[in-house]
Amino acid sequence: MAGLKTAVLLSGRGTNLGALIDECAGDGAPAEIVGVVSNVPGAAGLQRAEAAGIKTRVIDHKGYPDRGSFEDDIHQCLQGLEAELVCLAGFMRILTAGFVARWHDRLINVHPSLLPAYRGLDTHARVLADGARFTGCTVHFVRAEMDAGPIIVRAAVPVHPGDDAERLAQRVLAAEHRIYPLALRLIAAGR
Ligand code: GAR
Repeated sequence: MAGLKTAVLLSGRGTNLGALIDECAGDGAPAEIVGVVSNVPGAAGLQRAEAAGIKTRVIDHKGYPDRGSFEDDIHQCLQGLEAELVCLAGFMRILTAGFVARWHDRLINVHPSLLPAYRGLDTHARVLADGARFTGCTVHFVRAEMDAGPIIVRAAVPVHPGDDAERLAQRVLAAEHRIYPLALRLIAAGR
């Protein structure tokens, strides 16, 4: 393994982590996943990482008096891993402007909508309520403003008649699994 030293922050099941792990396996890997950090103890994403032999760490926000001290520990952990790039993959904590500045242009996120449309949570339910015919997903550099920042890759996904939020989420998630590894590859190639 070689390439851009990449850390992943997550809070949940880690299917996007799985897609990144697969991209970084074998010859021609664009990056090396040097560690996975979860703010949620027992997150399924941690098991995925361990199964792939990747270092894991739990930094539970509930154990900190404020966001700043929580983020200081995450920052130190990322530095300890010598991370050059940090991927948010279903990391469900808002990061402060201070943290985002420390990782400027080295912190990316995947979001389940075609940004700048549908920032925030419950994107699929809102897309369906609006009767939109297309939605999608976006990988972008993180800025202090939530779900904003320069776009790296987007994929459009059709909304089918009869979709509910769960079915639409599955279709969008499959697209996330294609574009997140692609974004990693583009960044690692200096594009
Ligand atoms: C993904 O759909 C990702 O886009 C979303 O959480 C899910 C994580 O799934 N992220 C956000 O909503 C961030 N605002 P995963 O744990 O299976 O990768």
